[in-house]
Amino acid sequence: MHQSTHRIEQRRRFLKFLAASPLVGMCLKIDPVQEAVAALFKSDATFSLDDPAVQKLITSPDQALNVFDFEGVAKQNLPPAHWGYMATGVDDDATLHANRTGFSRLQIRPRRLVDVTKIDTSIEIFGVKWKTPIIIAPVGSQRAFHREGEIATAKAAASRGHIQILSTVTTTSVEDVTAARGEPVWYQLYPTAKWEIAKAMVKRAEAAGSPVLVVTVDLPAGRNTETLERFKRIDSRTCTDCHQPGLAGRLKRRQMFDGLDISGITDYYAPNLNWDFVKRLKDTTKMKVVLKGIVTREDAALSVEHGVDGIIVSNHGGRAEESGRSTIECLPEVIEAVGNRIPVVVDGGLRRGTDIFKALALGAKAVGVGRPYIWGLSAFGQPGVEKVLDLLRVEFELIMRQAGVTSTDQIKKAYVVEGK
Ligand SMILES: Cc1cc2nc3c(=O)[nH]c(=O)nc-3n(C[C@H](O)[C@H](O)[C@H](O)COP(=O)(O)O)c2cc1C
Repeated sequence: MHQSTHRIEQRRRFLKFLAASPLVGMCLKIDPVQEAVAALFKSDATFSLDDPAVQKLITSPDQALNVFDFEGVAKQNLPPAHWGYMATGVDDDATLHANRTGFSRLQIRPRRLVDVTKIDTSIEIFGVKWKTPIIIAPVGSQRAFHREGEIATAKAAASRGHIQILSTVTTTSVEDVTAARGEPVWYQLYPTAKWEIAKAMVKRAEAAGSPVLVVTVDLPAGRNTETLERFKRIDSRTCTDCHQPGLAGRLKRRQMFDGLDISGITDYYAPNLNWDFVKRLKDTTKMKVVLKGIVTREDAALSVEHGVDGIIVSNHGGRAEESGRSTIECLPEVIEAVGNRIPVVVDGGLRRGTDIFKALALGAKAVGVGRPYIWGLSAFGQPGVEKVLDLLRVEFELIMRQAGVTSTDQIKKAYVVEGK
């Protein structure tokens, strides 16, 4: 046991004994409990965050104080390999960590004496108004986290009014997710190296009513997910019960590939993706086309040139290349190149309402959140996802009020400054 924890524990036991003794109270004419508590607080004992009482995992969503409270429960609930799949970055996980530290470099400049009794957190994107700028980012294989998977997420997204982006490697079809949500979702496309597959999926999403196609462009070559590999090694289950070797085996439960001819491709990555593909896509669908994974001004400018309707600044949650660069650091150059011509969304490392505020201040129209809602899903299913979304929304409302803004379009660059 940690030495300070040990000391606290000894002191606690003694105080408990004191508190329980009526004799002490009678003799000293004091309330033993009150006195014991006062003594503890006057003492030099410091509460350690390692203290098991402080560390205790939450047992229901309403106990959560912030989104991190779901992370430990998710880790406890999930088999190691599934936890590893979710938690992993690439190589040394440097980009994954940069996504978080990027936010701490930015500081908020709140304004005072603004009446913030009423605030409006809504945004408008592609002509549709949403009551929050928080978007549910596409995360594949959600039945690996909870038996209700994407259905639970869809119901939570619907009940809280968030945009939801459904992954190509979803474990529930776009039709079933749309039905569960009660309205169409945005569809994320891994085009693969074969046009026929991309086209068939686009048509299927279109038929399900998806208004926006989010094309992920940041995984042309695969990735080195070392943390995942390490967790796989300590997973003693027979994984082949669910995952068979080879692409067909891996895609078996990925319903968007049902009925498609996957011969000739080895993965859903698309090494041959180029700007001609974007043009072809634009000519094929009426859906808005958004590119996910743009991180430079050069590609942002090319996106606008090629008629792309929106951009998601993303490094796949630190799961694409190990660039070492956070998305919040990439955002300003993308915004500069795009101007106000198309909406820009950012994802990666957003865990607090203040992170959302900072992203909007730097010009993002909305933000995407990945792992936090998956922690909520893994911990408690739909109610877990709902609570994660609630916490983020409440925190965001609080910082809007504290910073003295009453609507999302007032959140501008002047509200943040880079720390030294
Ligand atoms: C477990 C997991 C699976 C993901 N699956 C997909 C996917 O299928 N398609 C996609 O475009 N992005 C995928 N992403 C990336 C997310 O959409 C998003 O960019 C990222 O999670 C944001 O970072 P955050 O997790 O720090 O919030 C995945 C991320 C995680 C953690």
